[in-house]
Amino acid sequence: MPTQDELKLQAAQRALDFIEPGMVVGLGSGSTATLFIKLLGEKVKQGLKIRGIASSEDSAKLGAELGIPIIGFDKATETDVTVDGADEVAPGLALIKGGGGKLLREKIVASASKKFIIVADASKIVQKLGKFKLPVEVIPMAEPLVTERLRALGYPSSIRQAKGGSGNYITDEGNLILDCDPMQVADPEVLAAELDGMVGVVEHGLFLDMADLALVAGADSVVEYTPETKF
Ligand code: 5RP
Repeated sequence: MPTQDELKLQAAQRALDFIEPGMVVGLGSGSTATLFIKLLGEKVKQGLKIRGIASSEDSAKLGAELGIPIIGFDKATETDVTVDGADEVAPGLALIKGGGGKLLREKIVASASKKFIIVADASKIVQKLGKFKLPVEVIPMAEPLVTERLRALGYPSSIRQAKGGSGNYITDEGNLILDCDPMQVADPEVLAAELDGMVGVVEHGLFLDMADLALVAGADSVVEYTPETKF
């Protein structure tokens, strides 16, 4: 049985099949997306001409180190393909993302993608979203208000802490992340609308109707899931 890291690598490798010369490629964040960026960097070293739009400071730095020209939306207003990871993938390719804290820029890049491809190992597949703590990015000033509103709606949360005990985790845009306790998300659209309507919430980790394809590596093969695939 391959390890989880080997499966992530297989999914990332398959995503290379969707990259063509001249493309603007959205670079995701997290361990699986990082494997994809490294593989893409190797192709660039071999002569592939693409440009990248990064979904985090980490991915921008890695891409640049590997020789991938990193551009902003001032140079191209959409990506041809974006390749990113996910924390949960449910039927319809409804996703929870943001485990790595990059959900805001990830959603911006995903929203500007002609094709949004998820790379994941099979452990990310779920029938219903919500075992993974849903991240909600909030303006620091509004954190106590949003925490209370989430609690009142039945979604208790806690402020994400930085690794190494250095205090609150701060996002690339200078915000905080509230991680909602695991829940069974009965209706992701309703929850997303509630969060979208909450003043002080910048973005949340529900990515609905965004992914076109998920490349999911299991023990035997990498399986292609579309929004129509029955789980
Ligand atoms: C970061 C993300 C990641 O894509 C998600 O957490 C999956 O990460 P990994 O590939 O390490 O499992 O959303 O904000």
